[in-house]
Amino acid sequence: MANSNLTNAKKVKNDEFYTQYGDIQKEIEAYLEYNPEVFKSKVIYCNCDDPYESNFFRYFILNFEKLGLKQLITTSYKPSPVANKQLGLFGDDKTLTKLKGRPKINANKFIINVVGDIDGDGEFNLKDIAQQLKENKYNEWAPLDGDGDFRSDECVELLKESDIVVTNPPFSLFREYVKQLFDYKKKFVIIGNMNAITSKEIFPLIK
Ligand SMILES: C[S@@+](CC[C@H](N)C(=O)[O-])C[C@H]1O[C@@H](n2cnc3c(N)ncnc32)[C@H](O)[C@@H]1O
Repeated sequence: MANSNLTNAKKVKNDEFYTQYGDIQKEIEAYLEYNPEVFKSKVIYCNCDDPYESNFFRYFILNFEKLGLKQLITTSYKPSPVANKQLGLFGDDKTLTKLKGRPKINANKFIINVVGDIDGDGEFNLKDIAQQLKENKYNEWAPLDGDGDFRSDECVELLKESDIVVTNPPFSLFREYVKQLFDYKKKFVIIGNMNAITSKEIFPLIK
């Protein structure tokens, strides 16, 4: 009993580990060194990412123009036990006023098509995105019908529309997660435990 509790605690912890902005930046920028156009005109989908909390969302939105993205889609998973605990709205930027309105407990989808200096203060930052989302102009911010599971029909529809999936998926569902990416023939950059490469499902894919 005690052992299974411990295993569960470990699983939850791994499933709920948030990725640091600097690590995402280093990884993505390594691809740019290889090919500066690698993300150009691409639809990026972060499908395990609460936009309120995810540094993947933060990174891609702040670098939207630099990477030349066509669209950024992020969907959150409703029952996240750490929702709004590890990172604040759009990271730790205290200068931002919190968005009012839709309840945060819902699974949400954000679809970003346009970024820019909306408030006219001379620079583009997360404040502009917050304002733009509030006005719902060009970009879409809506609750999902379901819980945001990456396997749900609505998330699979978004997956089909995307070119590259980038995220740190739940560790406990890693094999299923990777299988889905291959089933839909998606390019991806995902974080996984090193042990995953030795599993009988993952190793043949690498081979
Ligand atoms: C390891 S955390 C990483 C969070 C975020 N991607 C990051 O890197 O900061 C995994 C995330 O997947 C979410 N999650 C768990 N099960 C999921 C599922 N079935 N479908 C989609 N997301 C899920 C969790 O709520 C959690 O936010």
